[in-house]
Amino acid sequence: MDITIIGTGYVGLVAGACFSKAGHNVISLDTNVERINGLNNLELPIFEPGLKNIITKSFKEKRLKFSTSYKQACVNKVIFICVDTPSKKNGEADLTNLKKVLNSLAEFIQPGAMLITKSTVPVGTGKFIKSFFDNKFANREMNLRFCSNPEFLREGSAVRDFLKPERIIIGCDSPQGRKIMEEIYHPIDKKIFNKMIYMSVSSAELSKYAANAFLATKISFVNEIAKLSDKVGANIHEIKSALGSDSRIGDQFLNAGLGFGGSCFPKDLNALYYLEKKFKLEPSIVKTVLALNNSQIDYFYNKIKKHYGRSLKNKTICFWGLSFKPNTDDVRDSMAISLINKLSKEVKYLRLYDPVANKNAKMVLSSLSDIEFFENMYDALHSSDCLIIATEWELFSKPDIKKLSFLKDKLIFDGRNILDADQLNKYNIIYNGIGC
Ligand code: UGA
Repeated sequence: MDITIIGTGYVGLVAGACFSKAGHNVISLDTNVERINGLNNLELPIFEPGLKNIITKSFKEKRLKFSTSYKQACVNKVIFICVDTPSKKNGEADLTNLKKVLNSLAEFIQPGAMLITKSTVPVGTGKFIKSFFDNKFANREMNLRFCSNPEFLREGSAVRDFLKPERIIIGCDSPQGRKIMEEIYHPIDKKIFNKMIYMSVSSAELSKYAANAFLATKISFVNEIAKLSDKVGANIHEIKSALGSDSRIGDQFLNAGLGFGGSCFPKDLNALYYLEKKFKLEPSIVKTVLALNNSQIDYFYNKIKKHYGRSLKNKTICFWGLSFKPNTDDVRDSMAISLINKLSKEVKYLRLYDPVANKNAKMVLSSLSDIEFFENMYDALHSSDCLIIATEWELFSKPDIKKLSFLKDKLIFDGRNILDADQLNKYNIIYNGIGC
């Protein structure tokens, strides 16, 4: 099948790559000329495990092309919209980019084409897209089809999530549209039919927000219990195993820590809360989850301040982890970056390390002085007073403990609860987690 993907961010690039791996012919379109030039030279704008290999192979075999031309992209009749929908100041999802796409498509789209929205969009966007084209082509029979197909991939495991999905949500009212969606997804995995869940466009749109909000709620809930554990002397790891062994609860997204960041959860929860407010649905769990998550950084920061008191200003602190989560170089809404911004005003010097996000972190922290980036985690540790772990990279969970002993204050603040406190204590290293 011939497919066009509009947008080469995380969702669009991964979708295009994976559809081409499944054998489809894909044109990936972006209006960012620099990005498309880079992709045509096989330079990826993001780090995502496994992505470069797939793109390189499909590109060389000519199943994946990159273009800035809507005319070229609209040769195909199956078109996925994968552009970003960032937050406006009031929390509402900003559909400016999506509307630009619709205007450009209106010039070249062919009769009988099917438009599939993968971007996370507010409920009602599908209806808006349909009425946009109905108005544009009021005097012309176009027979366009519309579908909502929200994406559930996680950064860091996006390729795997796309190729081995737990479910594929299809919001589509016509049987022909559903059939096309089956033809698109079938080559990825023969058993994928069992994973396709059909519903209305509005339900599909809301499902995406509901899924992200539910996962974020689990995180904020476990963070709340972790704070209580600190107060009463319980251990959040033990409580997690008690909760997680109940299949009604499940053991995922129960890791306490600095809270959730990234380009999805904060943005999508804000958009969902905006929608709730619009319909006067208060009180709101979503609002509380956002507030709890925002306060989590302060809770951790206060632990550090409480430990050091006034002497914090003489301290050199090593940071491991700058990305918002492991296996990505994405620092958007990263808790690590927020904490660095807060602490930089209070301490003498910061020594920072991330396996892949140093470059992006350097850009967002360019206004700070008295910070330094390192290419090796133990070089960053050298001559530091204490260590803060801010991202749960697996690499950090099994450190060389003898090297940790070189920390001047023999002190660790583990913002992701990934180290073993008992083991560190054997080396006389003081351990501070969240709820453990
Ligand atoms: C999230 C969802 O998990 C995806 O299903 C969804 O498709 C995506 O948003 C999106 O809307 O596009 P992502 O933001 O890539 O994916 O990352 P997650 O793995 O969900 O992690 C989000 C944040 O929660 C990270 O900062 C992570 O450190 C934090 N987290 C996660 C915790 O603090 N505790 C946990 O137990 C799990």
